[in-house]
Amino acid sequence: MITFQKQGARVEVWHDLDDLSARAAELFISTAYESITGNGDFTVALSGGSTPRALYARLASEAHEEYAAWARTHVFWSDERCVPPTDEQSNYRMARETLLDHVPLPPQQIHRMRGEDEPASAAALYTSQLGQHLTSRAGRFNLMLLGLGDDGHTASLFPHSSALDDMEHLVVAPFVEKLRVHRLTLTFRVINDAAHTIFLVSGEAKAAALHAVLEGDADPHAWPARMVRPAHGGNLTWLIDQDAATQLSY
Ligand code: 6PG
Repeated sequence: MITFQKQGARVEVWHDLDDLSARAAELFISTAYESITGNGDFTVALSGGSTPRALYARLASEAHEEYAAWARTHVFWSDERCVPPTDEQSNYRMARETLLDHVPLPPQQIHRMRGEDEPASAAALYTSQLGQHLTSRAGRFNLMLLGLGDDGHTASLFPHSSALDDMEHLVVAPFVEKLRVHRLTLTFRVINDAAHTIFLVSGEAKAAALHAVLEGDADPHAWPARMVRPAHGGNLTWLIDQDAATQLSY
């Protein structure tokens, strides 16, 4: 593994998705135990898409049966598609199939975004649920998992979206022009408040976006992942594989 700093963040380059997922599982568990020791429980925002599947499957595998903290773990999402929880596009469904159905996590500690509802009301409901949960937890996630789109989006914060500069709301339901759909997403107000943030980025298709996000002075509104800047002492780690790192200088 090669590691270096970029824009105040730690970057770790791993051989492939499997290796970076193993590292992500290690950090997930260490962050969870750190949080439980300090706060009594652990609140994590899962990312969607396909990259985190390997991490979630690893956490569900017997390799991590020793992770005995599911009873102290609360799972939220960084974003969700506006589809039912049974839809193949659902980030909740992906996490349920790869992780949640395989670990003893109390159902009342699984806090999914209701993609099946009218977007604005789903965002308002999640704002209330998330706000209530975080109030007694210093207002922040212990761990925020994020992915990177090949256009530089993260969560469902897409280039030039009006949601990028929203510092008022915790959860919004922007219409994504590129996809012609609404999405549900945490805002950077919440994302940048997290104590620990980890990006998982794999594959050659992400190399150009990773270069634009981590190097040079590209417009953050054109490459929204550049706007992930943990505040209040939070830290940011990029777990990437060699294929995604091909356009980085290090
Ligand atoms: C989503 C995600 C999104 C994702 C990136 C990368 O709902 O799609 O939250 O931000 O992390 O698009 O997706 P892949 O991992 O599938 O490349």
